[in-house]
Amino acid sequence: MSKLNLKQSIKESIDKTVAKLKRSNKAKKSPKKPKINIKGSLANTSARIKNIKLPKIKLKIPKINLKLKLNSKKKKVEIEPSPVTKTLQKGVKIVDKYSLYEPFAQVAIIQDPKTGEHKYVLDELQLDPMERGIYNRILEILLAEIESPKEEITDPRKFFAEEAKKIVEKYRISLGWLPDVSWYKILYHAERDLVGFGKIDPLMRDPNIEDISCDGVNKPVYIWHRVFESIETNLQFESDEDLDNLVVKLVHMAGKHVSSAFPIVDASLPGKHRLAVAYRREITPFGTAYTIRKFREDPYSIIDLINIGTFTEEMAAYLWICLENRASVMVLGGTAAGKTTALNALGCLIKPGSKIMTIEETAELNLSHENWVSLIARQSYGLGGSSVGEVALFDLVKTCMRHRPDLMIVGEVRGQEAYVLFQALATGHGGMCTMHAENVQSAIRRLTQKPMDISPAYIPLMNIVMSVQRVHLVKNGEKKAYRRILSVNEIIDSEKYVNPFKWDPIKDQQMVDIDSSFLLTNYSERLGITREQLVEELNRRKNVLSWMRNSNIRSYKEVASIIAEYYARPKEFYQKTVESEEAKPVAVAK
Ligand SMILES: Nc1ncnc2c1ncn2[C@@H]1O[C@H](COP(=O)(O)OP(=O)(O)O)[C@@H](O)[C@H]1O
Ligand SMILES: [Mg+2]
Repeated sequence: MSKLNLKQSIKESIDKTVAKLKRSNKAKKSPKKPKINIKGSLANTSARIKNIKLPKIKLKIPKINLKLKLNSKKKKVEIEPSPVTKTLQKGVKIVDKYSLYEPFAQVAIIQDPKTGEHKYVLDELQLDPMERGIYNRILEILLAEIESPKEEITDPRKFFAEEAKKIVEKYRISLGWLPDVSWYKILYHAERDLVGFGKIDPLMRDPNIEDISCDGVNKPVYIWHRVFESIETNLQFESDEDLDNLVVKLVHMAGKHVSSAFPIVDASLPGKHRLAVAYRREITPFGTAYTIRKFREDPYSIIDLINIGTFTEEMAAYLWICLENRASVMVLGGTAAGKTTALNALGCLIKPGSKIMTIEETAELNLSHENWVSLIARQSYGLGGSSVGEVALFDLVKTCMRHRPDLMIVGEVRGQEAYVLFQALATGHGGMCTMHAENVQSAIRRLTQKPMDISPAYIPLMNIVMSVQRVHLVKNGEKKAYRRILSVNEIIDSEKYVNPFKWDPIKDQQMVDIDSSFLLTNYSERLGITREQLVEELNRRKNVLSWMRNSNIRSYKEVASIIAEYYARPKEFYQKTVESEEAKPVAVAK
């Protein structure tokens, strides 16, 4: 985020929050509650403390990230139990419970005994009225005092936490006495609202959540949970203002603009999370709607996908050989089936040093290759239907060809860009892409019709078409969603394809028919070796993948570097690692 953006976004958030708080404070004023006069003297403050009920102390804080030198006397810092878990209905079963950000946010996954439905209950420490008042003042002070960073900052949260700490230490006495725990809570809320993702910040911290969607005002926010799938949360936006403010803030964080005139935004949030917005009631009658597809910082490598059963070792070894020989690959599947993830994982297998260019609507691909250029489409700046300044996927694919990449990867083809991609394949470039389609037949039908309009004679230029799907399997008596590659097809012509791999849903196994592969036959001829020799090579690569799994090598970077090593010195690498591993048990037996 640039200096200006950060300052601007902090200022906007503060202005809005302060304005809102002022309104809600006015509305909620009740004579019974202790009046908070922040500007009051210290003497007044201590007199007031007697009237203030301190939070009941029950839970211990195991870890606090915001380290403050608040109290010289070491007191036990403890926090009140959150109201959420206290108010759970009777008979409701808690199926899972974990912490998101100690000690501020936890989650309980509950199940309704009658319907069996799961619900995600976020349990976040809230500010009491007194803390709210001080929080309100702190925001004003932060706005006045936080200085623009001198250099470009990479981590706004860290910058904010450090600055806020200094400011709180300076003002905490004049702001009135509060227990340590309240200061932690205030700082947590300030960070969450100013540099974080606001109300949904805790959800963004949950690695189990794949996407977050809000369908409108006064409707529960839904999430897609890795274990419990699509479930309701106890979060919801009670007013249009609340919801719109958050969305405007998110869009600004992504460096874009949203308004009634331009109500549709597709943007990339800090951390590469993908945000889609329909603003106000222009196109969504229930109010602003948004969906966030979360980005994994540690992308799935091919080894991860083998470990979770999406790919098999043999399939990956086969694809490795094909990619080395410049096969073009298309990944098919439905929404969130795991197409982009599979495509990105295949990136591990691409020869290092290849010149790769990726082309996407929003940045999702994350490769470890040095010689990689990422191109991202840009929306128009023009008014109405004008496309002034727009850089569409189609334009990018065209430009890309002029850069003469070895491999062109298109995030998702939908329209005319597919036509250009096939032109690129026809002129000898390598190409990979994903496409939304259920199976090969429907993909080919879409490719050969408008707007893609690819001649059927060009279809076999896409050598491999594989489809991925989210499937439900019962394992250990539990039904869960898994991702599986349903089939790997080699395209002979627009109506004929062979299946070296096909998934058997009953056994949850890949049925392998390597003999049917004509690509391997082609490559062996091209390489001047027999087909058997190429299949032996395939088996060696399978062993390399297996060796990585056994050696716990899984991160994208590590996997890619092992594969790079194998590309550079296959024989030596194989002898040094896989064969010496195989020899070990014999040595022990002797
Ligand atoms: N093989 C897989 N196993 C488990 N989760 C996966 C797998 N592939 C993708 N996911 C998760 O599913 C979500 C959607 O994946 P993505 O690849 O973006 O889907 P698509 O491109 O098909 O829309 C992501 O949150 C991702 O982490
Ligand atoms: Mg995708």
